[in-house]
Amino acid sequence: MKAIVYTEYGPPDVLQLKEVAKPTPTDDEVLIKVQAVSVNRSDWEGLRGKPLYARIGGLLKPRHQILGSDIAGRVEMAGRNIRRFQPGDEVFGDILGRMGGFAEYVCARERALALKPASMTFEEVAAIPQAAVIALQGIRDKGQVQSGQIVLINGAGGGAGSFAVQLAKLYGAEVTGVDNTGKLDFMRSLGADHVIDYTKEDFTKNGQQYDLILDVIAHRSAFAYRRALGPNGSCFVVGGSLATFFQILLLGPWIRRSTGKKIRVLVVQTDPKDLIYVTDLIESGKVVPVIDRRYSLSEAAEALRYLGEGHAKGKIVITVAQNNQT
Ligand SMILES: NC(=O)c1ccc[n+]([C@@H]2O[C@H](COP(=O)([O-])OP(=O)(O)OC[C@H]3O[C@@H](n4cnc5c(N)ncnc54)[C@H](OP(=O)(O)O)[C@@H]3O)[C@@H](O)[C@H]2O)c1
Repeated sequence: MKAIVYTEYGPPDVLQLKEVAKPTPTDDEVLIKVQAVSVNRSDWEGLRGKPLYARIGGLLKPRHQILGSDIAGRVEMAGRNIRRFQPGDEVFGDILGRMGGFAEYVCARERALALKPASMTFEEVAAIPQAAVIALQGIRDKGQVQSGQIVLINGAGGGAGSFAVQLAKLYGAEVTGVDNTGKLDFMRSLGADHVIDYTKEDFTKNGQQYDLILDVIAHRSAFAYRRALGPNGSCFVVGGSLATFFQILLLGPWIRRSTGKKIRVLVVQTDPKDLIYVTDLIESGKVVPVIDRRYSLSEAAEALRYLGEGHAKGKIVITVAQNNQT
């Protein structure tokens, strides 16, 4: 089968389109013929080996030689312990722990997968898993956003951010989106009430305070987040620098005790119920998966470069197989 392979950390040029062996599913896995796979910042981080958490399990060389976690495709073969799926089923999900989606075939455990609704394309569902579930668990589950609350999303013009803005608006919040100059109108189009250009303004230094901050690209000190939170406010970080993560793990509990403000690292848990919840919202028109660009498998390097260079608004999707609309 064809796959995009890399054997060393580096720029997109280290990615090569190669012929490799088709994977074989274990008893607990399904083999999926990939139709579409979306590109996440976690792919970019895994390609570059930065931040350092991207090297977990592969300090000097990549642990997985094929990137790609947000897959959508058809079940081709099901292991003997598989209960929920059978060959021919159209599925999608996030396989961040094992990767391998930038390929014609991939294996996945059934707990990572949900059935694709017939009304949605493979590209649309591939845009959902990691980004929408980060947003859902940050805004709905941990953030418990309620009507009238003041919410800030840092990195609101990217994958997770574009879902987070829409969800926070859906739950009735007043939303501020933060991203680069080129994404201000995009964040407004998602429903953001206010936008901040991170290249011009630091949201932790403008005197505003928020009930909830969801930061998908956290580089600040725990004290900066404390300053930007209102009384009893909460901040959840999901991606960013390791230094910020460590500081939050170390100082978060102390800040909570001394001020009542909660600052935590959000560890996302995969649950197919979340995928179904999001497709229900999309089918009812309440949330839109925004696909900025589509690429073919052989163009994976360009897709990653586009995201890494800071152009992507919402999601980038790689169409692996043709004639795959539904
Ligand atoms: N905690 C968990 O369990 C978990 C699970 C899965 C993934 N993750 C992590 O979650 C993150 C998800 O990111 P994503 O896929 O949504 O990324 P993304 O699509 O690249 O979006 C990030 C957005 O942040 C913007 N940005 C960059 N620097 C910024 C800054 N200083 N201030 C504000 N915005 C800035 C980017 O714009 P530019 O174009 O300017 O760069 C981009 O629009 C990744 O880091 C991933 O590793 C965490």
